[in-house]
Amino acid sequence: MSDVIEMTHPLIKHKITMLRDERTGTNEFRQLVEEIAMLMGYEALADLKTHDVEIKTPIENTVQPMLNGKKPAVVPILRAGLGMVGGILALLPNAKVGHIGMFRDEVTHKPHVYYCKLPSFIEERLVIVVDPMLATGGSLIDAVNEIKARGAENIKCMCIIAAPEGVAAFTQAHPDVTLYVGSIDRCLNADAYICPGLGDAGDRIFGTK
Ligand code: PRP
Ligand code: URA
Repeated sequence: MSDVIEMTHPLIKHKITMLRDERTGTNEFRQLVEEIAMLMGYEALADLKTHDVEIKTPIENTVQPMLNGKKPAVVPILRAGLGMVGGILALLPNAKVGHIGMFRDEVTHKPHVYYCKLPSFIEERLVIVVDPMLATGGSLIDAVNEIKARGAENIKCMCIIAAPEGVAAFTQAHPDVTLYVGSIDRCLNADAYICPGLGDAGDRIFGTK
């Protein structure tokens, strides 16, 4: 079973409550998604590896830690995952950005992949997959399948709101991937929307409904 880490920080909880509120408009919604992604990213990246380098301060020579290895890759699941990219780039400004395009069929709720472009040397990078919503889990499971099929081995996923059904499905499909979630909600409804959730994340970020 993979690790599932639910956020407990009061700042994250407060911002998720604002995000859920139906009175929150597009501009504020976008800003909150980015801020939450940054706060969640800070927690999710706490185990990044460092190595010692020698530098000289204005005072003296010293040996200090720097991040190890190839730059991480952030991979948003389109569309809604795009809203989280800026928050991760605020922490890792040199990160590479890949994209995976998926949509859920409105009737079957099954995901379809329509695009996947990842940075080179993906097998050497930490890959951070971002999507605000984990509902049935189908989209994230298939996205990670695609990313693994292209060689990635070190993957973390970040979702702001998850349904218990999606968390269970994801951990069963990808026991080697750590999942960071802002909130695990009550359940899915008959339309596979998360309750209480926040509605359609893509529509709220891009103002399309
Ligand atoms: C939403 C969301 C996830 C997916 C979650 O995307 O951003 O990608 O649904 O549902 P699942 O866990 O049941 O697969 P949607 O398909 O609505 O596309 P959009 O981001 O383009 O709006
Ligand atoms: N996708 C969303 O945007 N919201 C949900 O509640 C479920 C899937």
